[in-house]
Amino acid sequence: LATIVVAVDGPSGSGKSSVSRDVARTLGLRYLDTGAMYRAMTWWMLHNGIDVHDTDAVAAAADKPELVSGTDPDGPTIHADGVDVAGPIRGPEVTGAVSAVSAVPEVRARLVALQRAVIGDGGIVVEGRDIGTAVAPDAPVKLYLTASEAARAARRNAEGTDPARDLAATQADLARRDALDSGRATSPLSMAEGAALVDTTAMNREQVVAHVLGLVRDRL
Ligand code: C5P
Repeated sequence: LATIVVAVDGPSGSGKSSVSRDVARTLGLRYLDTGAMYRAMTWWMLHNGIDVHDTDAVAAAADKPELVSGTDPDGPTIHADGVDVAGPIRGPEVTGAVSAVSAVPEVRARLVALQRAVIGDGGIVVEGRDIGTAVAPDAPVKLYLTASEAARAARRNAEGTDPARDLAATQADLARRDALDSGRATSPLSMAEGAALVDTTAMNREQVVAHVLGLVRDRL
């Protein structure tokens, strides 16, 4: 268990974050939210006046921000150039721009290298879109969490990160990001070979966590 890597992929609102944190906490593992790293990169680009739709400008800047991820599942942290960006990375500006930034190959190369450095010798649950396919394809446990689009939109709204939005707007934004994340050329969202598919549509958080803990134990 001390060196295990649990790779958790899936679309927005599939429950990846809460389940990954609960599983890490239960097993005494570290936790890495790679989506927060793409969001922090996006925040930095916006903060520095870089046009996120100018692929060359984004590519040229991809090495510039210093990004530091704290991996305690009870309080994961993310800093960009020493600034705590945990709040701003959840705002609508970053959410609206992150799929464009994360499609740029230089951004992915930089962040995958940082993610592998954090993973190190393992003992960690890593969540994202390409963990089982690109970041840690040799992970002994790979999971693909999903749920119906309606269920995912309802969960996102219940999280209250963006209380002004109605359900239809949230669902439209999820569908837009899913299409961009699944359609991009460089490591698109897809289920990794050997991954276990977990459809969480009709399950609550506790049920998903119990199911995932069972899968992890089966594969040890
Ligand atoms: O998981 P979260 O919704 O915070 O991720 C934000 C965005 O970051 C995704 O929509 C996707 O564009 C990008 N992402 C990615 N690869 C990852 C994690 C996130 O491209 N491993």
